[in-house]
Amino acid sequence: MIIPRPAEYTAHSGEFVLGPVLDLHAGSGAERPADLLAAYLGTDRPRTGAGPAAGEGTGIFLCLADGAHDHPHGYDLLITPDQVRLAAPSEAGLFNGVQTLRQLLPAQALSADPAAASAADWRWPACHVRDAPRLAWRGVMLDVARHFMPIEFLHRLVDEAALHKLNIVHLHLTDDQGWRVEIDGLSRLTEIGATRTESMVGRAGSTVFDGVPHSGYYTRRELAGLVEYAAARGVTVVPEIGMPSHTRAAIAAYPELGNHPDVRLPVWTSWGISEDILAVHDQALDFCRHVLSDVMAIFPSRAIHIGGDECRTVQWANSDAARRRAAQAGLPDVAELLGWFLSRMHDFLSEHGRRAVCWNDAVGVGNLDPGVVATAWLKPEHAAEAIARGHQVIVAPHEHTYLDYRQTGHPDEPPSADDRVLTLADTYSFDPLPTGLTAVGAAALDDASGGPGVLGTQAQLWTESAPTTEVVRHLLYPRLCALAEGAWSDERRDPADFADRLQHHLLRLDALGALPAGRPEGWDPGAGLTMP
Ligand code: ACM
Repeated sequence: MIIPRPAEYTAHSGEFVLGPVLDLHAGSGAERPADLLAAYLGTDRPRTGAGPAAGEGTGIFLCLADGAHDHPHGYDLLITPDQVRLAAPSEAGLFNGVQTLRQLLPAQALSADPAAASAADWRWPACHVRDAPRLAWRGVMLDVARHFMPIEFLHRLVDEAALHKLNIVHLHLTDDQGWRVEIDGLSRLTEIGATRTESMVGRAGSTVFDGVPHSGYYTRRELAGLVEYAAARGVTVVPEIGMPSHTRAAIAAYPELGNHPDVRLPVWTSWGISEDILAVHDQALDFCRHVLSDVMAIFPSRAIHIGGDECRTVQWANSDAARRRAAQAGLPDVAELLGWFLSRMHDFLSEHGRRAVCWNDAVGVGNLDPGVVATAWLKPEHAAEAIARGHQVIVAPHEHTYLDYRQTGHPDEPPSADDRVLTLADTYSFDPLPTGLTAVGAAALDDASGGPGVLGTQAQLWTESAPTTEVVRHLLYPRLCALAEGAWSDERRDPADFADRLQHHLLRLDALGALPAGRPEGWDPGAGLTMP
């Protein structure tokens, strides 16, 4: 009943009963996963030290062991009536095993309500699990720029990502409609850029506005707290600062960063693609470096997303300064300044031991450095194209991974910015590692090794039409569960088996309070899941 489906699960007879006092041991290097397990079990901090050998004594033992699995992020879990032994070659592997232990508890044990959780029948079935991820980067992106979401919600999202063995939470922190991260020395970004006077309602091009101001940003301290909470779950928070496009909130705060410094633009109240983009002068580049320096101080993530999508270059074409800049850089056309711009930021991040990620729009435009990771969102074939150009790729084609699309044709689905429907069956059938592409190893997450290939995949949730956490929850589940399975589990795809496990998994999500309070009457996301 585990999601994502483990590689090997062998049921044994008997159970390990969790009594009121648990003997939990963490070997050297296993302390953080053991602390997390202790928190999930509502028990005392683990005792450190190796603990008794296999077969000796009763208790729960977590330890690092090189030989436990041949995948660096894999794990080996053996549950007998007397002992639970979780071993892995790395801390990441142990974190993965802890989530399996969490899912092997009765669903009620996951309850956010302590009384309900303590009434659960706390026991684990005896079994042996050997398991490892298929892809290194298993992510979920949330757009907190179009609609700000409370920091408490982000904590819960991180924990729910971990439950699904997703190891990346990508925060889309800035866009035309709002700047959501406090930056030292650039206070107008949040004083001006974090508030818009109202929001467009309906589809792109709509002329209806709600008349309600929208505002919000995260302090550095809040984000640092989120990063720490995520690290304690084996999750990396990847920040995205979009550039040079999707920057109207920044230009509203600092008009000199734009191509028309004399025009005072408001933070954008509409959705769609704005032609207002950053200028390519030194001041704009220095601004981006300043912001990235600050972001690196908050987020230890090796990967830093720098956007680069939907960059219309009309303003550069009409700017003498931009044309001169292109000529100086030896570029035949101002449009190529996009790849040039992002490569400059990749150079800067590289000097600081980090690595740029961008949307795939810039691949092939202006000699984009192949060290930049590409998030291939536009068309399915773009992943292979970016790999052919030497990039590592996050495979995220919108028609399979954009959870802001409606998930059924039900008339009471929340409004969407788009008419498309992305069903649960569509997300389950999506293969992020199609024939012909190869995955790079887990080490690529830390050291950029492995050459070109598929780094991983992720779900995207844009929030133009998702103003509340309730709507976000409606859109996330259950489709995120299906995408997580594609990211983790090998090529076997059995929709009936998934549907079966999902039935049970929804009880866990319900206990956690992860599901929306209500669903439209007669809403059935499972329709079509039992596919031919
Ligand atoms: C995107 O959807 N503009 C990446």
